Amino acid sequence: MKEREQFATYPSLRERVVLVTGGATGIGAAVVEEFALQGSRVAFLDIDATASSLLIANLSTRCLHPPVFLQCDLTDIAALRAAVAQVEASHGAVRVLVNNAASDDRHSFSEVTPEYWDGRMAINLRHQFFAIQAVAPRMTAAGGGSIINMSSIGWMIPSTGMPAYVACKAAIVGLTRTDQDDGPRIGKIKYSCEWCIGRCNSYRTSAPPMVDSGIQSRDHGAPGSQKEFGSPGSCAPHPVSSG
Ligand SMILES: NC(=O)c1ccc[n+]([C@@H]2O[C@H](COP(=O)([O-])OP(=O)(O)OC[C@H]3O[C@@H](n4cnc5c(N)ncnc54)[C@H](O)[C@@H]3O)[C@@H](O)[C@H]2O)c1
Repeated sequence: MKEREQFATYPSLRERVVLVTGGATGIGAAVVEEFALQGSRVAFLDIDATASSLLIANLSTRCLHPPVFLQCDLTDIAALRAAVAQVEASHGAVRVLVNNAASDDRHSFSEVTPEYWDGRMAINLRHQFFAIQAVAPRMTAAGGGSIINMSSIGWMIPSTGMPAYVACKAAIVGLTRTDQDDGPRIGKIKYSCEWCIGRCNSYRTSAPPMVDSGIQSRDHGAPGSQKEFGSPGSCAPHPVSSG
């Protein structure tokens, strides 16, 4: 743990149950690592068993609770639901969900087929909704939590060569900003949308004011605001609902 002495630690994240999708490589692996080094009890879902084993091996002697890997193809919603149920059975209620998995494979506008389009939706958008739906009941019953949906600045730049991916990343912002009549209440569960900037290791952790797009950023529930999502500690459950 000596390596952490130069960085902030957040007592509220210790023992916190965190679920990360696509946690084997890239940003997801960095998220798994950072939460694990905070003493959180991290589970992550991915298809890449090899990279997952390497990540766990790298962390096993460095953290209180080595992360737990569940192999899961997130395009299979039944498998996703089963994996969440397995995590809840072994760890308890998920208090932080990081909806991270995606695939930004480039595709030519003219060559996109309906089947390819549906496949992009399945890996870049659909599982985010169903992961929220799966964790929400127990997260809410446990007193609340944080849900972080990974978007991209790709839909604001605008970018080229991946129209289906970019459409999903814009939709994730809409999903994050939606209040559900019969779902988790914003304020009880904090939603946040992340915009990555740079390649992999650098990413903005709060919704930027979308002045250029004409969209106003909104508060995600007092006393937390989007600005609060700038650090791992901000993923701790809402103060009024801690438990
Ligand atoms: N890297 C960037 O520059 C950047 C920029 C903008 C947004 N983002 C977003 O950040 C997030 C992470 O990006 P990254 O570059 O680290 O991605 P990455 O491609 O490096 O990692 C994605 C992870 O998801 C996993 N995955 C892919 N398909 C899966 C499936 N069907 N089931 C389960 N797991 C699956 C992969 O195995 C991998 O571990 C994504 O949501 C991405 O859209 C990244």
